[in-house]
Amino acid sequence: MILPIYIYGHPILRKEAKDIDSSYLNLKELIDNMFETMYNADGVGLAGPQVGLDDRIFVIDLAPLADEENPEYREFKKVFINARIINRTGEITNFEEGCLSIPGVNESVPRKDTIEIEYLDENLEPHHDTFTGFPARVIQHEYDHINGILFVDHISAIRKRLIKSKLTTMSKGKVSCHYKVRTA
Ligand code: NI
Repeated sequence: MILPIYIYGHPILRKEAKDIDSSYLNLKELIDNMFETMYNADGVGLAGPQVGLDDRIFVIDLAPLADEENPEYREFKKVFINARIINRTGEITNFEEGCLSIPGVNESVPRKDTIEIEYLDENLEPHHDTFTGFPARVIQHEYDHINGILFVDHISAIRKRLIKSKLTTMSKGKVSCHYKVRTA
């Protein structure tokens, strides 16, 4: 089932999400719905708060970005539950990001190159992994969501001023995109 995606200005996007426990109802169904919603919106990542839930879950599938240089993205379909980033290292790089909750806005965001993260997968099996480069960037973007942080929080004051009216319009419920949304 395709879920509505919550848009900038909705308070759920600013809440710190809560851990999921093993008694969580319909977890498999939620995961299926999150992937379906993300694919329908042409995204590569989607977090719980973006579908109105204050649960620490996000899904990522980098397959649409797989190419000759990065064939491994074809297999990069992952669920992160109760994730905790325990280390961020390496150089800070800047790269243009967007977000399904902030349609039509793309800004360069500085992030560390490498992360170490603990999380549970879709079967609630624990993992402790290190990611680097673009996958680490996408994970940090989604991880921000479960802590109530949005990518526009990381951009320069000048850029922020330039997109302010766009964000204000969005938070007043005026938004146009090709997928189903819920506004504040
Ligand atoms: Ni996002």
